[in-house]
Amino acid sequence: MKKIKPLRFSILVLCVFYLSVWCNGEDESVAAPMKRTEVEALYSAIQAFVGKWWNGSDLYPDPCGWTPIQGVSCDLFDGFWYVTELRFGPLHDNSLSCAYNAEFSPHLFALRRLKALSFFSCFVSPRRYPVSIPTQNWEVLAASLESLEFRSNLGLTGRIPSTFGELKNLRSLVLIENGLTGELQANLGNLINLRRLNLAGNSFTGRIPDNFGGLNSLLILDMSRNSLSGSLPLSFGGLNSLLKLDLSYNKLEGKIPEELGNLKKLTLVDLSNNKFSGGLTKSLQNLSSLEELVLSNNPTGGDLTSLEWQNLRGLAALDLSNMSLIGGIPESIAGLKGLRFLGLNDNKLTGDIPPKLASLPNVSALYLHGNNLTGEIKFSEWFYGKLGRRFGAWDNPNLCYPIGLMPTSYAPFGVKLCQQEIMKYETHLGSKVKNGNWDHIDSKPMVSLGFSVCGVSGLVYLVELLMVLVFSFSPYI
Ligand SMILES: *[C@@H]1O[C@H](CO)[C@@H](O)[C@H](O)[C@H]1NC(C)=O
Ligand SMILES: *[C@@H]1O[C@H](CO)[C@@H](O)[C@H](O)[C@H]1NC(C)=O
Ligand SMILES: *[C@@H]1O[C@H](CO)[C@@H](O)[C@H](O)[C@H]1NC(C)=O
Ligand SMILES: *[C@@H]1O[C@H](CO)[C@@H](O)[C@H](O)[C@H]1NC(C)=O
Ligand SMILES: *[C@@H]1O[C@H](CO)[C@@H](O)[C@H](O)[C@H]1NC(C)=O
Repeated sequence: MKKIKPLRFSILVLCVFYLSVWCNGEDESVAAPMKRTEVEALYSAIQAFVGKWWNGSDLYPDPCGWTPIQGVSCDLFDGFWYVTELRFGPLHDNSLSCAYNAEFSPHLFALRRLKALSFFSCFVSPRRYPVSIPTQNWEVLAASLESLEFRSNLGLTGRIPSTFGELKNLRSLVLIENGLTGELQANLGNLINLRRLNLAGNSFTGRIPDNFGGLNSLLILDMSRNSLSGSLPLSFGGLNSLLKLDLSYNKLEGKIPEELGNLKKLTLVDLSNNKFSGGLTKSLQNLSSLEELVLSNNPTGGDLTSLEWQNLRGLAALDLSNMSLIGGIPESIAGLKGLRFLGLNDNKLTGDIPPKLASLPNVSALYLHGNNLTGEIKFSEWFYGKLGRRFGAWDNPNLCYPIGLMPTSYAPFGVKLCQQEIMKYETHLGSKVKNGNWDHIDSKPMVSLGFSVCGVSGLVYLVELLMVLVFSFSPYI
């Protein structure tokens, strides 16, 4: 009997020990407290977006613990749970999706530890339920908010509230494809910690504020597809961390400032579809990290030979189409060995096509059509075969390809046979005739040559027609 007692005792001790470990474990993972105010603010904020039917205390009694909500993340501060991320939008089956009459609730601003807030496809009825971003209260999130995103909310209208300028900790401000309007306020330029500013696909108007050039932590600046006007601020030369600059599809004008050439880290510059004029900016040749340069559809004017293209060693895409460029195509462009896409079409380029362009090892599209290029194209049959219709040289009235240099099956589309070639044969034969020896055949060789040329060009035409048919039905071209 005396021996059993210590055993009983030790079992008891073990039980108490395990129980206390188990209970403590539960305590830490589940029962970390969340202040009533924080829970209520979360429930009320969510309910305003997703609808009255959504009863948080019923569905998610412990939202930061054992009943997590898709799109909500929490963190512990001083032993209490706080909401740090809140994401609305149909990304997953169980995401918080907005109701048709979603609205902002002031309770949102009671979530003082919020780091990331995003709305994807939440406000979608610009006619029936237009919603504006609240103008007040953002300052209470100034210390915490790092990422704010509104994406694909056509029903989100009105202006960017000026109080956004107080969100000094923002790293990322993304307002893509909403119905936002008005001028961009200079106080967005106060957000000096921004790494990404994306305002693409809204209806913003007016000039780009000068002080945007002070956002020198920016890595990505995208304000494409708006109606911004005026010139590019010279201060943009100060955006010296910038990797990507996309201002395409606006109404920007004036000369592209030389200051852009300071931004040595840029890998993408897209200024296409604006009204930039004043010629090509020489300092662009200093952007040694560039991989894509797209300046198409601007009345830029000027001459390609003014830049030392060979400096842009990493360039993979160069689109300079429809820019009213004059002059010749410099051979230095053929020094850009990494080029995959080269668009020089629809300009006023003259002179010969440098044969070296055909030796670009990775080129898969080369567009030279719609210019006034002259002379003979001297590319190989292999090249025409490889590129097919992605080699464009049509609409150059004085350009031709030489007869006999290639099988007609790989003739460049829309380019005619060189008449000079024919003339050469004709004058050659003509001179022999004049020399007297061939008096008796007189005009007959001319006639037969004429027929054979007709035959060849007829064949070429047929082959071209076939190629058009083949290419337009092939999904791979
Ligand atoms: C949610 O449900 C609880 C219990 O069913 C109820 O007491 C509470 O009033 C409801 N809250 C809302 C906002 O409907
Ligand atoms: C390119 O950069 C160099 C210094 O890195 C500078 O001296 C030169 O003026 C710049 N060229 C242009 C055209 O801006
Ligand atoms: C060519 O550029 C001008 C602006 O310079 C633009 O108005 C026109 O629409 C462009 N053409 C095409 C086919 O995009
Ligand atoms: C061509 O493309 C290949 C494959 O993407 C790449 O490895 C190679 O470096 C490219 N060549 C040049 C000159 O950029
Ligand atoms: C094209 O260039 C030729 C000279 O090479 C010139 O005679 C002709 O006028 C030019 N055409 C256009 C449309 O500029």
